[in-house]
Amino acid sequence: MYNPYDFYFKQAKKVWFKARSAFKLDEIQDKFHVIDKTTKYVIDIWCAPGSWLQYTISQLQKNKVKDFKLVGFDLKQVELNLPGLVTYKQDITDQEKVKELLAEQGIEKVDFIQSDMAPNTTGIKDLDAMRSVELIEQTLWMYQTLLKPNGKFVIKIFMWPGFQEFVAKLKTIYGGKSIKIFKPKSCRAESKETYIVKI
Ligand SMILES: C[S@@+](CC[C@H](N)C(=O)[O-])C[C@H]1O[C@@H](n2cnc3c(N)ncnc32)[C@H](O)[C@@H]1O
Repeated sequence: MYNPYDFYFKQAKKVWFKARSAFKLDEIQDKFHVIDKTTKYVIDIWCAPGSWLQYTISQLQKNKVKDFKLVGFDLKQVELNLPGLVTYKQDITDQEKVKELLAEQGIEKVDFIQSDMAPNTTGIKDLDAMRSVELIEQTLWMYQTLLKPNGKFVIKIFMWPGFQEFVAKLKTIYGGKSIKIFKPKSCRAESKETYIVKI
């Protein structure tokens, strides 16, 4: 049963992250080192309220990366002011606009893309499942056109119909060994969410 006062929620409050999802990215980072000393440019799609932004900026700072940049996109305004961070209130499915905004930041290719998508749910399971996969499919172009050849990504996805096909598609593009499926301990046990990591 969902408990908003569970351990990770309390931890998130205690250590200033805007949401508990930062702990999931932390577990992914511990296991796969998706952000390393070569990571300079990062995109965060679906970034509000911003706990992944906070976490990633802290890692980039820890790695002492010079002139790093993290660009976040969300339908909602993000209220965060951190060094190296730029956020846009922008629908991520508008390819041309997203490319234009990245160009504005002098970014052509990035080292890492983080994607913590959650569709606005209707409560109708099949419809929500379809919407989730559809939204993720609509961002596939980003990984294919904006990621450097050795770039990495993390995509949150729900284990709904369409999940296996999407993973298979990524494996065909990037090779089976580069694509990992990982469920962090900080995910609620009953949750269908899991993470696809390209290493
Ligand atoms: C789970 S939240 C992201 C949480 C964030 N990673 C964090 O750590 O704070 C999912 C976000 O996706 C955003 N979103 C949904 N559809 C979108 C779209 N088409 N374009 C941009 N953002 C979208 C929502 O506004 C919401 O803020």
